[in-house]
Amino acid sequence: MLLGKLKQRFFDYVDQFYSDNDTDNQAIQLKRDHTRRVCRNTRMLSNKLNISEREAMLAEVMALFHDIGRFKQYRIYQTFKDADSENHAALGISEIKTHSFLEGLAEDEIDLVLRAIEFHNALKIPDGVKGRERFFMQLLRDADKLDIWKVFGEYLEKQTRSSADSVSLGLSDKSEYSDSALQAVCKRKTVQMQEMKTLNDFKLLQVSWVYDLNFVPSMEAMMDKGYIDRLYAFLPQTRQIDEALARVYQYIESVISSGYGAVAGA
Ligand SMILES: [Fe+2]
Repeated sequence: MLLGKLKQRFFDYVDQFYSDNDTDNQAIQLKRDHTRRVCRNTRMLSNKLNISEREAMLAEVMALFHDIGRFKQYRIYQTFKDADSENHAALGISEIKTHSFLEGLAEDEIDLVLRAIEFHNALKIPDGVKGRERFFMQLLRDADKLDIWKVFGEYLEKQTRSSADSVSLGLSDKSEYSDSALQAVCKRKTVQMQEMKTLNDFKLLQVSWVYDLNFVPSMEAMMDKGYIDRLYAFLPQTRQIDEALARVYQYIESVISSGYGAVAGA
């Protein structure tokens, strides 16, 4: 089966990155596990969205390879911060091509997979992208976000946290948050990476991702797992934050009650 073969190629590739350094191995393991769960999320969403088996397989291939650039990025730069190294999506695409990882798929399917990977970490999907191509980009971005919420939330719950941890992107865990991040959340806009100054800004950025979810089942999964509730619990208790989050919950409520399938305007 093709998917099994592609998975084998992926995991064989990842295995080469383990060394005798525990910190490095943890970083590799983090992304390896993340990939497995994004594949699972993709399956879950594919089932709920009733797409064909071939399409579900393609979506899973996208999930499998979407972060393959992370391993080389970490080896070269010891960070997952694109701004301090290079774009991990572009790095991944170059690795996929170098190793012919997608061999076995049709030419147009390879293009579709590479395009979805290229834009999985973009601030937004370009307006000109339509139809099938847009659908897969949306699916991958939602599946990815669901797992980032999980990993980051678990990081927040850990007793011993350090800003050196690769999950926190090295942001300092102070009580402050930026006004621009708060304003973005209030205005139903996604917080920009460059706006982040503290760990609280990163929490607000992740809250603002609700506005970038593309499918109602993604939003339902996010609510079921309590991802937004957990981010809220770890933000400072101020009236501003309460008001911002009240808007977020209102938005979620309106999207979920509006029906099943794609989020209008997404
Ligand atoms: Fe990812």
